[in-house]
Amino acid sequence: MRKHGIEEVVARMSDGTSVGFAPGLEGLVATRTRLSLVDGEAGRLIIAGFPVEELAGRASFEETLYLLWNDALPDEDQLAGLKGDLAGRRALPQVTMKVLVEAVTERVPTMDALRMAAGTLGSRDGDDCGDALQVVAAIPTIVATYWRLSRDDEPIEPDRELSHAANYLYMLSGEVPSTERVRALETYLNAASDHGMNASTFAARVIISTRSDVVSAVTGAVGALKGPLHGGAPGPALDVVFEIGEAARAEPHLRTKLERGERLMGFGHRIYKARDPRADVLAAAAERLYAADADRELYRLAIAVEETAIRLLDEYKPGRNLYTNVEYYTALLLHGLGLPTELFTPAFTASRVAGWTAHCFEQRELDRLIRPQSEYVGAEDRTWAPLGER
Ligand code: COA
Repeated sequence: MRKHGIEEVVARMSDGTSVGFAPGLEGLVATRTRLSLVDGEAGRLIIAGFPVEELAGRASFEETLYLLWNDALPDEDQLAGLKGDLAGRRALPQVTMKVLVEAVTERVPTMDALRMAAGTLGSRDGDDCGDALQVVAAIPTIVATYWRLSRDDEPIEPDRELSHAANYLYMLSGEVPSTERVRALETYLNAASDHGMNASTFAARVIISTRSDVVSAVTGAVGALKGPLHGGAPGPALDVVFEIGEAARAEPHLRTKLERGERLMGFGHRIYKARDPRADVLAAAAERLYAADADRELYRLAIAVEETAIRLLDEYKPGRNLYTNVEYYTALLLHGLGLPTELFTPAFTASRVAGWTAHCFEQRELDRLIRPQSEYVGAEDRTWAPLGER
């Protein structure tokens, strides 16, 4: 019997029938999708037909978005059309700016400000495509604007001539980024764009299944993504590398952690029991980025820490198949791009919104309300007592 599997309990319903009970819905298939296949045993991720290794380092973010939305790569005209549609929707509506300005005075954390601001987007006229284009286009502007406001810097207007990824980096730093930096960010945005029925994607599909709108679905998904069990904790993987400081200290440092029963951040995954394929893609992107214009020593140190960690995890946790997960190289890559750890989860949002919106379209077509059951375990025979008699 698995710890949290569907076969663990069979719940009895009030009408006497029995249904499978799977806390966390593990092992249940809730929908069919053509968007991504996560094969945890083989360490394989397919995004809309492409192995992640084939797609992530080659496609622009706009190409990946088109692929997810249309199940085919765009030709030149289609790509130019999508780029133009996105670029024209980057600027924030007045109400969104007002929310960000208010949020900054209250020192609202970035992901909360993003959730609040995302909810102000959309045309409210039931145009799924228009809403999806606007949320994808505007999320980087929201993040960059909020980040700059919170540091007392003047927000930077989006530049229509730049690609989605280049404009994101430009709005954060004020500098037009090099080709290498844009490539590195696009590789990350593509690699993290969709990943099966993860919690935020499921949240988005549940919301759309009520015939609600894309903006509501994305806003709910942002709330799901910020939790530490999902996208909310990529920073600690990098902190360990910084704590270690030099390769020779990796083994004693990691050994001490494992002896104390601590977990090594950036290693292990619920689904992947082989190496997370996104880790390889991002490691290769990080290698190119750090060779070009970031701190090469840090990259070398991260490799040394990774090798030591995998060896020690095998020694301390034999047979558990603990390998590098996506967070480890995400942290290294985004750090190399100059993003502070507070902006790691927002960057994840800017990527995963591609998958969320694609799932919204899929769920819209399916048009089936997602409505599981619950097993009631409370009392059934209470009688009402007036306030003074309780
Ligand atoms: N370091 C040390 N030991 C680890 C470990 C890690 N990173 N990840 C799992 N283990 C060990 C557990 O202690 C457990 O050992 P035990 O059987 O002796 O008790 C065993 O491996 C199985 O762990 P379990 O918690 O059942 O695995 P899971 O599939 O639920 O956990 C994670 C998945 C991601 C939560 C887990 O690997 C983890 O905590 N990793 C570190 C945090 C991290 O990198 N998060 C980002 C995820 S993308």
